[in-house]
Amino acid sequence: MRQSPPPKTYRVKSFGCQMNVYDGERMAELLAEKGIAPARDGDEADLVVLNTCHIREKAVQKVYSDIGRLVKAGEEAGRTPMIAVAGCVAQAEGEEIMARAPAVSMVVGPQAYHRLPEMIERAAEGERSTDTDMPAIAKFDALPERRRVAPGAFLTVQEGCDKFCTYCVVPYTRGAEISRPFRDLVAEAQRLVEAGAREITLLGQNVNAWSGEDNADRAVGLDGLIRELAKLPELFRIRYTTSHPADVTDGLIAAHGDVEKLMPYLHLPVQSGSDRVLKAMNRSHTAESYLRLLDRFREARPDIALSGDFIVGFPGETDEEFEETLKLVDEVRYAAAFSFKFSARPGTPAATMENQVAPEVMDERLQRLQAALDRHRLSFNQASVGKRCQVLVERRGKLPAQWLGKSPWLQSVHFSGPEAKDTAIGDIVRVMLAEAGPNSLSGRLLQSAHA
Ligand code: SAH
Ligand code: SF4
Ligand code: F3S
Repeated sequence: MRQSPPPKTYRVKSFGCQMNVYDGERMAELLAEKGIAPARDGDEADLVVLNTCHIREKAVQKVYSDIGRLVKAGEEAGRTPMIAVAGCVAQAEGEEIMARAPAVSMVVGPQAYHRLPEMIERAAEGERSTDTDMPAIAKFDALPERRRVAPGAFLTVQEGCDKFCTYCVVPYTRGAEISRPFRDLVAEAQRLVEAGAREITLLGQNVNAWSGEDNADRAVGLDGLIRELAKLPELFRIRYTTSHPADVTDGLIAAHGDVEKLMPYLHLPVQSGSDRVLKAMNRSHTAESYLRLLDRFREARPDIALSGDFIVGFPGETDEEFEETLKLVDEVRYAAAFSFKFSARPGTPAATMENQVAPEVMDERLQRLQAALDRHRLSFNQASVGKRCQVLVERRGKLPAQWLGKSPWLQSVHFSGPEAKDTAIGDIVRVMLAEAGPNSLSGRLLQSAHA
């Protein structure tokens, strides 16, 4: 590999879940701290970080085609950018990428990206490097402080997964479950708030598996952390995602009833409504035990909005078993959801199971499931019409005096009104909701500033 001048500008492209987005933000902050500036829109960057996701199909092909595109554009412009492959594909396929793509200068896993600056220096000397170690906590200690963030910020509290659902790559790409220390998290939350955050979403592959020791050295779960963060005066809202049914505790359910800043929203993936399929997936719950858990959340917080993840076409899934998923969806009436066709991931047990479902069958099931989920989402949104609600202002809308924000139930809300010019990003305002669509609501500003 040739020597090249140290990069002056960077671009980080994130392709995955919210934790992947969080990692992308932290990498960007790290590069900025080292004096590398973000490339302006439309400009070629000297360094491109592909922050990849491995969860479903074509992840690897996509990385190779992105690399190919960067090389081609670089050749046309007379200079190829330095390319770093980060994220979960880097973790899973790092060596292969290094062997197949000579244009890649470095491969860095999700637990090792604090070492990017040294790797960039080496790349400038013409040396390629790979780092897919998993030292976990070391990464967070080595990252710079948070300086300026949007009103809605992410905070990774837990990483990794020990659940080994038979279809999933996360336990392999992110490693075993680890919890960041309570004190570190309270300190990072404080800095996020100082940097402009008004809502913090606590992130983890199994966020409710988080555990730690509070300031009095008492063992606490995620609810203990939430209760501590709720004491930060300038923090208005707390959310968490993604939770696993097996790690739900009485304390977490209770927190939804008595911590006012904890928003009435729960993303609790179920994957399927069929107990046979759930067992084959190695999920530790049944459809019934999942529904009873939701009852308890609804008892603690009757207006809680529910969200889930679904996989259709898991190997061996019959028409009847798929119907059970539709039945569960109609029973829960989700406010939001993500649904996917089963994707055979290399190295996972489900990839080699017999009775793989035909693609046409998966397509048809996905369409039917999404139609049902869309129907429930629209009726959830329509039920908000005519109500007043608090909105966290996130950005300006396209029209003058129009703003965009989020309701407590994570709905996007557009609003405008005569007083809207006094509104500022990061305010909590009161809005009268007037119209609902499948993806957003619109309304009229009632009262500005910290209503
Ligand atoms: N830890 C979370 C979610 C992790 S991945 C949980 O267990 O709920 C996000 C979602 O991607 C999963 O909930 C699942 O619905 C989907 N997913 C994961 N692996 C998949 C695969 N091989 N094929 C299709 N969807 C998958
Ligand atoms: Fe994947 Fe299951 Fe772990 Fe979620 S709980 S990350 S789906 S293995
Ligand atoms: Fe993708 Fe890794 Fe997240 S595989 S979904 S980026 S944990």
